[in-house]
Order: sequence, then structure tokens, then C-alpha cells
Amino acid sequence: MKLSLVLLTTSVLTYASPHLSSRQDGNSSGEASADQWGRCPPVWNTISRELTSLFRSGNQCNDDARAAIRAVFHDCFPDGGCDGSLAIPAELGRSPNTRLTGTVNKLKSVAEKYRVSVADMLMFAGSTAVLVCPGGPTVKTYVGRKDAKSPAPEGQLPTGDVTGDEALQKFQQRGFSAQDLAALVGAHSAARQRDQDPSQAGKSLDSSPGSWDVKFYAETIAKKAPFSLPSDLSLANQTQVGPIFKKFAKSQGQWNAAFAPALAKMQLLGSSASKLVDCTSALPRARYTRDVKAAPINDRYS
Ligand SMILES: *[C@@H]1O[C@H](CO)[C@@H](O)[C@H](O)[C@H]1NC(C)=O
Ligand SMILES: *[C@@H]1O[C@H](CO)[C@@H](O)[C@H](O)[C@H]1NC(C)=O
Repeated sequence: MKLSLVLLTTSVLTYASPHLSSRQDGNSSGEASADQWGRCPPVWNTISRELTSLFRSGNQCNDDARAAIRAVFHDCFPDGGCDGSLAIPAELGRSPNTRLTGTVNKLKSVAEKYRVSVADMLMFAGSTAVLVCPGGPTVKTYVGRKDAKSPAPEGQLPTGDVTGDEALQKFQQRGFSAQDLAALVGAHSAARQRDQDPSQAGKSLDSSPGSWDVKFYAETIAKKAPFSLPSDLSLANQTQVGPIFKKFAKSQGQWNAAFAPALAKMQLLGSSASKLVDCTSALPRARYTRDVKAAPINDRYS
């Protein structure tokens, strides 16, 4: 009962403010992204619907959704944080990013169409894509970032063959815990590999790439996934991360509850929530009750 009241209130707030739209006809500067009361500009509801249809095929999330989830990590992890630099051709053309080109350029056009920053678009798209994958949790999602004018430094993304120890070290340097890393890697639940072994391009990293589920953990641990990245196998046996893999393998709820704050933290690299506007309410609704229960209600639609 409490929940439906929250949802109702949210939709009233979200849709009852069309007169605010005059405030978002600015451009991608931070201020232009909030209405005068610091609330999420209604344009994000339109963007949310557009992205949802881009990311959904049948009842599953598709390749654009998978690429959008990866794009968050690829944009945010290098120095500079989440600044849209991924969409700059000089950065997008680098080998770890080239596979994301089609999707990132689509998202860039949506950003231009609605005059929001590419950085915000990439973050909002990542959160939307997670929700479009059946079972995905709601990630607290902010807008108001400015776009970088130059590409991020090269060579800072961990590759598919780093050891678990190296991966943990790189993530810890960015402020993530072993639990954050274990949770974020679970996004491979909805992933396919292409570059690690081109002869097996298109193989998924668990048996259900169209869903957001914990099969990735169980199948990686058991070496039963259609394909496993060397880094994921190494993480499954890493001293700190390995035990958390086992925990998540048994609990979708625990994984989602850890994933959502870890992705939210990723999306805040390079900025701070206090300078941004919370647009979580504009994301599509979680489609399964169990996901809604996985996170505290007050963290979801505030
Ligand atoms: C974009 O923002 C800048 C700085 O805030 C402003 O000078 C410029 O006029 C804006 N452009 C548009 C198209 O609103
Ligand atoms: C973890 O290490 C054990 C013992 O060396 C090994 O049997 C197992 O296959 C390893 N697991 C993975 C996923 O590599």
C-alpha cells in the first residue's frame, strides 16, 4: 500500500509540471538541467520513453541496452569521470570503445535532439537499460553534468585479461570496494564478448544475456558460462571478491541491492550529487516487485 502511494505521488509530480518545460530550453550547462525548484526537468520523461523503446526487443533487453550499460563504465572510469568524452570521436575510436560506436552515436543524437548533455544522456541511458533488462534494479540517477571538450586519457580501462587482483586495485583507486566491484561485474549477466576471442564473437557471458539475473555468477564460478573473460574467472577466485561472487550467485536481491548503489557511485565519478538533480523518478518503473523490494523505498523515488 505504501509503495503504490509512493508511485502515485511520483507520477503526479512527474507529469503534472509541463509548464516547467520552458526552463529546459537552455543547453547542456548544469543549471539548465534543473527546473527552478531543482527538480528533474520533464524532458527526461520523454527521453525515458524513447530510450525504453530503443533498448527493448520483445520482452528482453537488446544489444543497444548492453552497450549503454558498458558505456557508463567506459565514459566514467578514466580520469575526468562521467563527462561524455566517450562520444568524442578520438576517444570512441579507441580499441576498447569501438564496439560501442553505434549505440553511443545514437545516444548522442538523442542528447542533441533534446538539448541535454551527452554525459547526462549516457548515465540516464545506462540506468534505463538496466531497468529494461527484466529483473534490473532502479539506480539513483542524476543529471546536470557538463560535457568534456577533449578525450579522456588513454589506457585507463581495465581489460578483459587483467587479473582479479589488478582489477580490484584499479577499482579501489577509484573509490570502489570489493563488493562494488563484484556487483558491477555482474552487469556481464547481460553481456556478450566480441573482442576477447573474435573466433567466438557474440557468445554471451552467461546463458541468459537478455535478462538481469545471477546466472552469470554461478556459471562463471562453475566455468559453465557460454564464454568467460579471463578477468572474470580470476575475480571468481580473488580473495576478497570471490566470496562475494558466491553470495550473489545465490541471491538476486543481494546482488541488486549492491549493484544499484555501485552503479550510482560510478555515475557520480567526476561530479557530486549535491551539484546535480535527481532524475530517478523519470526512469521506467522496475517491472518486478522483487526488485522494488530489493532497495529501500526512500532511496528509490525521492
Ligand atoms: C548555452 O549556455 C551558455 C552558457 O551558459 C550560453 O551562453 C548560451 O547562450 C547557451 N546556448 C543556448 C543555445 O541556449
Ligand atoms: C578457482 O581455483 C580452484 C582451485 O585452484 C579451481 O579448481 C577453480 O577452477 C578456480 N575457479 C575458477 C572460476 O577459475
